[in-house]
Amino acid sequence: MTRHFLNLSDAGGDTIAAMLQDAMLRKSARASWPKGKSDADAPLAGHTLAMVFEKNSTRTRTSFEMAMKQLGGDSIFMASGQMQLGRGETIADTARVLSRYVDAIMIRTDDHEKVEELAHYASVPVINGLTDLSHPCQIVADLLTVIEHRKTLPGLEIAWLGDGNNVLNSVVEAAGLFKFNVRIAVPEGYESDSNFIEAAKTAGANITLTRDASEAVADADVIVTDTWVSMGQEHAHNKIAAMMPYQVNERLMALAKADAKFLHCLPAHRGEEVTDAVIDGPQSVIWDEAENRLHAQKSVLLWCLGKL
Ligand code: CP
Ligand code: NVA
Repeated sequence: MTRHFLNLSDAGGDTIAAMLQDAMLRKSARASWPKGKSDADAPLAGHTLAMVFEKNSTRTRTSFEMAMKQLGGDSIFMASGQMQLGRGETIADTARVLSRYVDAIMIRTDDHEKVEELAHYASVPVINGLTDLSHPCQIVADLLTVIEHRKTLPGLEIAWLGDGNNVLNSVVEAAGLFKFNVRIAVPEGYESDSNFIEAAKTAGANITLTRDASEAVADADVIVTDTWVSMGQEHAHNKIAAMMPYQVNERLMALAKADAKFLHCLPAHRGEEVTDAVIDGPQSVIWDEAENRLHAQKSVLLWCLGKL
């Protein structure tokens, strides 16, 4: 069966644990090598990834391109506005055609249904590089970052502050797979997807919903936030006002455990969801997190292509 990676559950907890292990081994094996040199085993030699972008990207594009290069393969960057997709060619036909040229397809788009449709009609693996619903590749990198900083996943207390968005949905999904707990503090009207929350609770995660940012961060191991205005959303001033009590600042960080870590998928809007003092402070691990997109995605690619 074709291995698509549309959400974390497509792979499951055991497979993601294997991905994290593989990512750590590959990362340490090539420490200090030039970044464009391929891994010793070049496991994706002869393979090509098409990367379709309907939204902007810095990390996802660069890390997928470098991931394919380091695995010995190639990638093709395709901005949807320059494709026939941008002139109305259907997702189904695009899927059928790309499947004849490349070995896997990564897509960043708006409606999650588009990724599902692409996977339905593609005969090669499809990877979700972010939709309005979820961002699973980001969370594999986040789990890797948390483990590296010596936090074991089961029982971990993660606090999410701000918007109930796509990144939070994938954090919640991971909580169900790895049995950690998420305290979610978002303003009224900006809640995250209840299906992800119910599924995580059923799987045994504690998901706590509160309007009180201080309550969410009290004694937490990890504090996470993201932009208050995701791509495709309007920058509404009333939303920014509603989000202000959820800004991650030094006062809130001081309520978490002394060795708590701060995560942000980036890009950050400094002065909105997080202050400079926190994002540039000693508890912030955002640059490791950004780097880990590369290492995590290599393992996602290897799994999709049957090499893991
Ligand atoms: N975190 C993330 O997905 O970044 P980009 O939007 O730059 O790809
Ligand atoms: N929630 C953000 C994440 C960007 C990587 C967005 O969808 O724009």
